[in-house]
Amino acid sequence: MAILDVAKLGHPILRQVAEAVSLDEAQSSGFQNFIDDMVETMRKLDGVGLAAPQVSCSKQVVVIASEANPRYPDESDLPLMVLINPRLTERSDERIEGWEACLSVKDLRGKVRRHRKVRVEAFDRHMNPLSFETEGFLSIVLQHEIDHLNGKVFLDRMEDFSTLTHLEEFDRFWMSQATKV
Ligand code: NI
Repeated sequence: MAILDVAKLGHPILRQVAEAVSLDEAQSSGFQNFIDDMVETMRKLDGVGLAAPQVSCSKQVVVIASEANPRYPDESDLPLMVLINPRLTERSDERIEGWEACLSVKDLRGKVRRHRKVRVEAFDRHMNPLSFETEGFLSIVLQHEIDHLNGKVFLDRMEDFSTLTHLEEFDRFWMSQATKV
């Protein structure tokens, strides 16, 4: 396995719409190795999610996991999830607000409002279909990662930039307010 380089804001691939993954492609050993590398990279960098365009592959793949994550100490653990060709098929009108950050937007956090609940349809790494509804932190992470597949980053979802904060200042001024989303 390998740790992959993360594309930072400004890399054009982060602004492209990612291509769907075909069944043949998903079954190749190269693709399965790539998924393992994505998981390893996410864990190494303490991410809770990673989308393939962030590692310079414009394909519809996201991985999500959080196990006692130091970047999100107050959030519940998320079991490892690999989603191929994910789509949001339902979104609640009700919104929740949370602090977001991104491995491609270094050293910044900002408040973003997202749908509280979403329904996701996707395939797992073996192309078995998945359909589930989720809410709260996982819902936020899913919306953030699926945005990456559509060329969007969390900054695009901020209503204004008044909460945009460098991590150093976040720790000084905002940490106490950064409770559950
Ligand atoms: Ni991100």
